[in-house]
Amino acid sequence: MDWKRVCTLDEIPVLGSRVVRGTKHGDIAIFRTSDDEVFALHDKCPHKGGPLSQGIVHGKTVTCPLHSWKIGLDSGEAVAPDVGCTRPFAAKLEDGVVWLNA
Ligand code: FES
Repeated sequence: MDWKRVCTLDEIPVLGSRVVRGTKHGDIAIFRTSDDEVFALHDKCPHKGGPLSQGIVHGKTVTCPLHSWKIGLDSGEAVAPDVGCTRPFAAKLEDGVVWLNA
């Protein structure tokens, strides 16, 4: 495992996100839920590539800002009836610091 420090939890807005740009996998969005859980997804909607990092988090899903598909934060899968998947990455929170494995 190759964990990299991203930022402190406080640097991500509640129900918002922060983007880690230019990883070998492209841009990765790190989301923060209202329960202070963190999740990481490729910052591209499986529909038409919208920036999920600009979506709104509810529970453990994010709504894409372009056409309102809902994407599961833990799986990267679109919520039915939509079908598609964006790549999830491992993220974790330790002592107030957010880590990404990508
Ligand atoms: S690009 Fe995300 S819903 Fe269309």
